[in-house]
Amino acid sequence: MNGNHSAWLFFVLLAAGCPQSATPTATPAQPATLAQAPAPATVNAAQSAAPTDSEPPCTLQTALTPGIPGSPGHLIPSPLNPNGSSELAQLMRTMQAELKLARAAIERGEKVGPLLPTFRKIRCSWPTTATDRNAAFDGYAQSYLAAVKALQEAPPAEAAKAYGRVLDGCRACHEQSCGGAIPAIEALRLPSGR
Ligand code: HEC
Repeated sequence: MNGNHSAWLFFVLLAAGCPQSATPTATPAQPATLAQAPAPATVNAAQSAAPTDSEPPCTLQTALTPGIPGSPGHLIPSPLNPNGSSELAQLMRTMQAELKLARAAIERGEKVGPLLPTFRKIRCSWPTTATDRNAAFDGYAQSYLAAVKALQEAPPAEAAKAYGRVLDGCRACHEQSCGGAIPAIEALRLPSGR
């Protein structure tokens, strides 16, 4: 493969992993049969995730498992990404759907359900482009997860502010890596602008 071809391929992968249009079509509460499902890939809601304490480590150092759904060569079929979605791209869609549910809970004055068991995987999921999982990414991921933890622990009166900080965390990382998804992030704001 010559250099030009590699550059072109890189661009295509990058474009596929970070689409301009980021409209969710996901229906929550579907089973997590993502890999071989002929139907459009759907998000898996947090309720199926194991509790944080019993989970294996998930940091920048965690080795990713080849061959799992969303790994290189095993992208997850998706109506949104013609080439298929990486594990990380799929997680982004899951987080987007989960935060919509969280926003609705906040608007009803209810406590937000546990998010970390699913969201923490941001640090150990296969991205479309391997080099996207680097120290800078992980730094943003850690600040973001701190905001997610604060949200899930927030009493209802504090939840709107904590929710806004989570979206700020999404946005901060995307300003560095993938600007195309920022409109989708801003669309998750509460009517109050949080
Ligand atoms: C630490 C950095 C980081 C944070 C935090 C982050 N993202 Fe992402 N996001 C990425 C990267 C990198 C990609 C490209 C993923 C890929 O293609 O594998 C991405 C992709 C996406 C996509 C496109 C997914 C697709 O189908 O291709 C959406 C939508 C998205 N993010 C929304 C969000 C939302 C909403 C949040 C907060 C709840 C968020 N992101 C938090 C880095 C981040």
